[in-house]
Amino acid sequence: MTRTLLIDTDTASDDAVALIMALRSRDVRVAAITVVAGNVPVAQATSNALFTAELCGSDVPVYSGAEAPLLRKLVIADWFHGADGLGDHGYKPAKRRADPVHAVDALIQTVRENPGIEIVTLGPLTNVAMALLREPKLAALVKRCVVMGGAPCCEGNVTPAAEFNIWVDPEAARIVFRSGLPLEMVGWQLCRGGAVLNPHETERVLALKNPIAEFAIRCNSTAVEAFFKQTGQRGMSLPDPVAMGITLNPALCSASSEHYVEIEVSSELTRGMTVVDRLDVAADSRNSDAWADTVERERKVHICWSLDIPKWKNLLFSALG
Ligand code: BDR
Ligand code: CA
Repeated sequence: MTRTLLIDTDTASDDAVALIMALRSRDVRVAAITVVAGNVPVAQATSNALFTAELCGSDVPVYSGAEAPLLRKLVIADWFHGADGLGDHGYKPAKRRADPVHAVDALIQTVRENPGIEIVTLGPLTNVAMALLREPKLAALVKRCVVMGGAPCCEGNVTPAAEFNIWVDPEAARIVFRSGLPLEMVGWQLCRGGAVLNPHETERVLALKNPIAEFAIRCNSTAVEAFFKQTGQRGMSLPDPVAMGITLNPALCSASSEHYVEIEVSSELTRGMTVVDRLDVAADSRNSDAWADTVERERKVHICWSLDIPKWKNLLFSALG
């Protein structure tokens, strides 16, 4: 039976590659793409999602959603992805427009109509939190929810403690992490080191000589430079495609374990930090208000600690081929 997927995304360069992987997969049917503000304002992200879907020849409905985090001002990542989120190459807008329904309504409706659906989130968790606030029972209808977000090893990309998607809207992340959704966390550490496409591998993708492969590499041009400045590593780091890879083929995750996770919302120093109770000490943390109710919570979070790199790259190359 074909699996049904909903993708929530702040579509910029790496999101676009993740969308391509899902839209070209024979294993899943993408029922909806819901768009959220994050890397770029939501109107730009929606336009980027439509462009990518059209390039793939897909008529998947695209819904525009939250324009800002629940309580905070939006901080975008144009310094990483370019002003248009796609490396500023002047891509023409898609012919198709977004569906007029708001992404949060679409999310609720799509989950209700497709019990057992899988969700993958590639941006801040604002849309998903809003849907859960309105319909807490939604969590029980979802088979799995793969979240690209967090830095469980505490090495962030936007502050030393936090990864961008969680940092942008930590209150939304906290709602989602406490919601009972069956979460699988794909942190930023998984897309570094050997998971990065080295220059030889990006050449290999370009040699596929098709417009989709070319777009996937080109729209990441600004991101490649920004990643080099940030980490000193040369190559294309693809957090959202790694999360999509694990969504499409869970065997890409080669080590995982389940723990309670809290999201820091108070401290400026550690805002958006994903605090993982790896040694399961929360049950004994009777002096900590933050963890007081953890033992009564429905679910721990499934955390992916390592990636099967050859499997990940094979999946990516075949999606772009
Ligand atoms: C995440 O933040 C965004 O810049 C990327 O699209 C990805 O979703 C990585 O921290
Ligand atoms: Ca993203």
